[in-house]
Parts: sequence; C-alpha cells; structure tokens
Amino acid sequence: MSESMLFRDVVRERHSMRNFLPHPVPEDILRSVLEDAQHSPSNCNTQPWQTHIVSGSKRDALSKAILAADDAGQLTPDFSFGIDDFSGVYRKRYKEQGAAYYQAIGVKRDDYDLRRDASRRNLEFFGAPHVALLFMPEVGDNVRVAGDIGMYAQTLLLSLTAHGLGGVPQTMLGFYGETIRKELGVDPSLKLLFGISLGYPDMAHPANQYRINKVSVGESVIFHQ
Ligand SMILES: Cc1cc2nc3c(=O)[nH]c(=O)nc-3n(C[C@H](O)[C@H](O)[C@H](O)COP(=O)(O)O)c2cc1C
Repeated sequence: MSESMLFRDVVRERHSMRNFLPHPVPEDILRSVLEDAQHSPSNCNTQPWQTHIVSGSKRDALSKAILAADDAGQLTPDFSFGIDDFSGVYRKRYKEQGAAYYQAIGVKRDDYDLRRDASRRNLEFFGAPHVALLFMPEVGDNVRVAGDIGMYAQTLLLSLTAHGLGGVPQTMLGFYGETIRKELGVDPSLKLLFGISLGYPDMAHPANQYRINKVSVGESVIFHQ
C-alpha cells in the first residue's frame, strides 16, 4: 500500500487492527502521518488536540503502569462510559462486534478468563510499538471538543492505512487517565478521550483478519428534497 491509494480504497481498507509486529515505525513516516492529522477540521478552528506519542522503553513502562492500575482496580476515567447505556440496535451492534472478535481469536463466549486476557491486550497496546494518547482541554460540556478529537483521530487512522500501517482507537485506555497523565507528566487540565495503538499490523494474526459489517446508507441517512 502507498500514499497513492485511492481515497475509497483507503477508507475501506482501514479497519481496527488488534495485533502488531514489534518493529517500530521510522520517525519520518510517523511524522508524515501526524502532519496529515493536523489538517483535520475543528470547531471554530480551535485545533484542540494534544497528542502524546509513546514508544520504546517509555511505552513499556506506560503499559506496565496501566496494567498495575488495572490490577489494583484504579480506574480513573475522565469521561463516563457504560456499556449498558447502549440499547436497541446499538446494543445489537456492539454485541456483534464482541462476538466477531472473540470468535476470530478463538475465545469462547463463556470462557471468562480468556476473555479477560483478551481485554487486557488493550492495556498492552495489542503489541504495538507506539501508542498515541489523545488529550483535550475541557470546554463547556466537552461535546464539541470531543467531536474535534474524533475528526483528528479518523484523519490519523486513514493516514496510517495510506502509509501501510494500522491502528486501533481505544476508549479502554481512557479508563486510566490519571495513571497515564502521571506517567507522561501531563497537566491535569488535559483530559484523555482515548488512545490509538499503532504500528505495522500482523496480518497473519486472526485478530486482523475478520471484518465487521457496516450498515447500509439507507439505515443511516434520510434524504429530504
Ligand atoms: C472512539 C473509539 C473507541 C474505541 N475503543 C476501543 C477499545 O477500547 N478497544 C477495542 O478493541 N476497540 C475499540 N474501538 C474499535 C471499535 O470496536 C471498531 O472501530 C468498530 O468495531 C468498527 O470496526 P472497524 O474499526 O474495524 O471498522 C474503538 C473505536 C472508536 C471509534
């Protein structure tokens, strides 16, 4: 894959990668991806994203600190999240995603130990050599800024694909906001929305071989004229 891929191919090729090869991304390529992400739109041109890219020994130390926080039950999310808040079609879709992932990696529905291990892979960045932590300032009810971070994240994810790389956005990393701020020396005024583990995806791994169904335009869009 290369930067000359057609836009529609890049969009369709991008999917969440949950297993990575260990070798790091050369700095010039990483910078090129981050340059692309800077071109994202934002409310009133505020460009409120504050991104920390963590690699090497610092990445290992960060993962260790998050796993320790998880072991100690120290969850410190900056924003609320409850899986049971999803109902109806949203609940159906999240359950389908979970089932597809666990089936792909050979974990049975009722094997809670293996499911927990698989979930903890989030905290090991799925073996990725880099993780991007997406921080944001608090502004009003935060909805607009969170939208801007989403715009930025998607540009970054598409650029990863165009560069032959892959990533996975992870709300789960946002559950350890205080631990991550402390490890990286980030000011408490900056809130962690989510992280993106990134690198060269291991395409031979079953976690990267299944694709999630996308609903049709007809289910999401209503035309008026
Ligand atoms: C903001 C955001 C947070 C996410 N958090 C997680 C996460 O914590 N762990 C995970 O494995 N996947 C996470 N995902 C990935 C979604 O499960 C995935 O995007 C969705 O199932 C659609 O699949 P696709 O990305 O392959 O198109 C997240 C996605 C987004 C956009």
